[in-house]
Parts: sequence; C-alpha cells; structure tokens
Amino acid sequence: MGWSSWNSFSNTVASAVVIAQAKAMVSTGMAGAGYRYINIDEGWWLGERDAEGNIVVDPKAWPALAPGEKPGDMANIVRFIHGLDLKAGIYTDAGKDGCGTVGPDLGPGYPNEGAEGHYEQDFLQFALWGFDYVKVDWCGGDKENLDPAVQYAEIARAIARAEAITGHPLYYSICNWGARSPWTWAPGVGGVAADIWRTGGDIVAPIVAGTKNGDRRAELKEVFREFDQGNHPEAQHTGYYNDLDMMVAGMPGLTDAQNRVHMSLWAISGSPLLVGADLTKLSSSALATLTNPAVLAVDQDALGLQAVKVAESGPGLEVWSKPLANSGSRAVLLLNRTQAAATITLRFSDVNLTGNPSVTIKDLWSAKDLGSLRASYSATVLLLVKGKEAATALYEIERITTTSEKKASGSDAAKKTLGSTAQAQSDHTGGANVLKNQPVSFAVRPASRTNFARIRIAYTNPDAAPRFAELRVNGRVATKIAFPPTETAPAEISIQSLLDRLDSKNDLEFSAVGGPGPEIESIAVQ
Ligand code: GLA
Repeated sequence: MGWSSWNSFSNTVASAVVIAQAKAMVSTGMAGAGYRYINIDEGWWLGERDAEGNIVVDPKAWPALAPGEKPGDMANIVRFIHGLDLKAGIYTDAGKDGCGTVGPDLGPGYPNEGAEGHYEQDFLQFALWGFDYVKVDWCGGDKENLDPAVQYAEIARAIARAEAITGHPLYYSICNWGARSPWTWAPGVGGVAADIWRTGGDIVAPIVAGTKNGDRRAELKEVFREFDQGNHPEAQHTGYYNDLDMMVAGMPGLTDAQNRVHMSLWAISGSPLLVGADLTKLSSSALATLTNPAVLAVDQDALGLQAVKVAESGPGLEVWSKPLANSGSRAVLLLNRTQAAATITLRFSDVNLTGNPSVTIKDLWSAKDLGSLRASYSATVLLLVKGKEAATALYEIERITTTSEKKASGSDAAKKTLGSTAQAQSDHTGGANVLKNQPVSFAVRPASRTNFARIRIAYTNPDAAPRFAELRVNGRVATKIAFPPTETAPAEISIQSLLDRLDSKNDLEFSAVGGPGPEIESIAVQ
C-alpha cells in the first residue's frame, strides 16, 4: 500500500513534489490506515552517468534537505521519507533505455534511462541510497526484444547481491505489462522471497494539473480492462501478487461511486494498492474510500488470494468471491457492469459455504449488517460473508515419477502408484507421501460448483529460502509456486486453480524447479 508519482506528476516528479505528497500521506490519515510506500516513478533521472557509470541526478531537482547533505544525492529524499516513518520506492528499466526515451510523456525523451549493463551497480546504488522498493519497467527491454523471464531473473540476482552487501531489503516490483505472461514466471523469479508483477498496460496516461495533460480523464472502462486482464488467481499466493496497476481512484474523471467500484475490484483482487492521485487534493469522499478499514482488510488479508468469478446470472451480472484467512469467511463482490439497476443473487453454495446453520452478511461500504441468509441484492455491493466451510477433500499423491523409471521408459509415462484418491475428509490428516525431487501427481475430482478450486498444500521446506515447484493442471502451461521455509513442522499454503474437468478427474502435477522441491505431503481441495 502506498502512493506512486506517475499518474499525477509524470516527468515533473522532483523533491518538492515528493515532500508534499509524503507529508499529505501522514496528514490525511492514509499512513495511519496502512499506506506506507512513497514511490518515485519515471522522470527522476535523465539518463546521465559519470565516468565510472554511476547515476548522476539533477541537483536542482533533488537538493540537500538538511544540513550536511549534498545536492544531487537521492539519499536526501529517502531520509526525509523515512523520517515520516514511511518507505521509499524508486524506478528504473530492465533495458538500456527507459520509458522516458521510448514514449516520453511530458519529458523531451532522454536516452539511457535504463539499467541494462549496470544491473549490479544500479541496484546496489538504490540500496545504498536507502530505497526500500524498486519498480523495474520494460520499455527498453521491449525495444531490444529481450526475454523478460531472463532479464528479470538477472535483476533479482543483482537485488539479492545489493541486499547482501547493504543488509537493506529492496522489494521487487516487476512492470512488463503482462507481456509474455509474467504470472507463469514472475512469482519468486530469480529466487526473490516476495514480489509483484504488473498484469496489463497503464490504466491512464498521466493527468498533470497545469500542463498540456491536465485535461485527460480517468475512465471506469479502463479500470475494468485492467481488472479483467489481471485475473490470474493460480499465480497469486503467500507474498506473490498480480499488480493491477497504480489506482486512479481520486483522480479527475471518476465519480465517488466509481471510486468505490475501483477500490472494491482492487481489494478483492488482493492487488497492491498504490494510489496515483495527488494526495494534497483528495476529496473527503475519495479519502474515505481509500481508507475504509474493512475494505483494506479484504485487500490485505493474510491468505493473499485473488477473487474468482463464481457466478454470472446474466450478461454483466457477476458474483466474485475471495476466500479470506478466517475459516468460513469470504469477500464477495456483486458486480453489475450494466447501465441498469439489477438484482444479483448470491448463492452460498457458489462460494463453498454451507448456509447451515446460518450465513451472516455485512455490506462493507455502508458498514451495515445485512443479517443472516439473505440471498439477493440490487446494487453493486462488497460484502463480507461468514458461514461454515463446505467439505474439503484430502488427496494423497496419486503418482510419483522416479528418475530411473523415466530413463527406463524413455518417457514420463512410467509412473508408480502410491495410493489412490483419498476419501473426503475435513482436514489434513492421514499418512503423508513425500515429494523428494521427482514430480508428483494428484488426481482430483472437484466438489466445488465452480471451476476454480481452492487447494491447500501441506508441505515442508527445511531451507532458509523458498523452494519452488511448478504446478501443471491437466497438461496446461505450468504455474510456479513458492514454498516458504517451514523449519521442521509442516506448513500449508493456499492457491486457487482452474479445474476445468468438472465431471472427471483433474491431473495436478507438481515438479521441482530451480533446485530441490518442497516435500509435499497432501493437498486439500474445495
Ligand atoms: C510505463 C509504466 C508506467 C509508468 C511509465 C513511466 O508506461 O507502465 O507505470 O512507470 O512507464 O514512463
């Protein structure tokens, strides 16, 4: 949660702008509501380096802010931001040029605004300046037709090295607009313990008051476009998030109601909440929308899952559900995309709740309790729904492919059956089958009424860093899953997966990637 300079300041970002925004973050109460990051986006640096290749910034744009400081030292603004108990973010590009070269907005178009050729040097510099977060764009990489999966892994290693040298963590924000499906390679790319990746293009071109861009307007249809493009629930879990883009809530163009729709969409997606509006000019209603504690809690829920569409009663009349960490809790969005008022029915079975003994419903925007067992509503509403979880089926490993069997058969067809699908049980119990380094498979028959099943994976990882496994469902493109360290006791992560064979068994195969895999014991499917 934080603020980013791009949407409202474009290339005009400079020390004075950042100071005013950081102060407003505190004085508006946004910091108190949980917003932490002040992210400096493109425009802070004009591509200049000294003879040793060090980044040189304009000392007028980034002056000394306290006695003893040198003008042109980005550590000055970081100290200021940290002094307000906030965190500081910076921006670069994976290629040689940055977006300021390729598609300048208010700037004249500066060459060499990217980090390529200087990865180790630049990311070390960001950490030495004290930045806590780095967004890495893709304009230069795209222009050079680089492979993002390769480039972003290389950068992750430069970040790890900078962190090791300085002892200062640098959060990794990947911005390649969904090109080459980052949800398939970005989670934990290069071994990072946490990251976010953009899933689409820019939600709006910057609207900078008092410039030729001041008349641009944010539009709700663009908000929906980003939301729809960003739905990749299989990749999102435990610290790895689809990033739907910096928000336009509070910017010119959206009504109060549209701001709430926008916030509801980002919250049920568990997307990063990076506000793009000018914080010094927020209306009281936009501020209330951005700081609604119940809605923020949905976004920040510890399970970190992304909502999936569980029902569509007619064109544009949709029910979206995000499972929350508390057992039996869901955030549910009744989304009416049409121009007309309509009643959207929420069936508890669609969100895998039993409705027995009762389900309580709360409207999160009005903070009204709507009582128990109500089934239909006539507006766009974000609900907190609490009931009893529907049954969960426990599965043990169906097949394990050993290296010798692979060699003997020349294919992966030879598989050893360790056991068949277990009967439905309420939780992880029973004997554990263990994945060492061989792929393991589960044959899953979903009980859920919807295509997306929630899958809880019980595993151990004795290392100090995450281990990774790829999950391939029904032979589709695999998704990389990170398994954080567990020490000795088994732990559980939750993911959601599209089990599209509703009437037969779905094949879930986990394979270790990038070293030894986690020891998977069982999966529980709802
Ligand atoms: C790209 C990114 C934006 C912003 C601009 C800066 O378009 O997607 O978020 O960083 O570059 O030029």
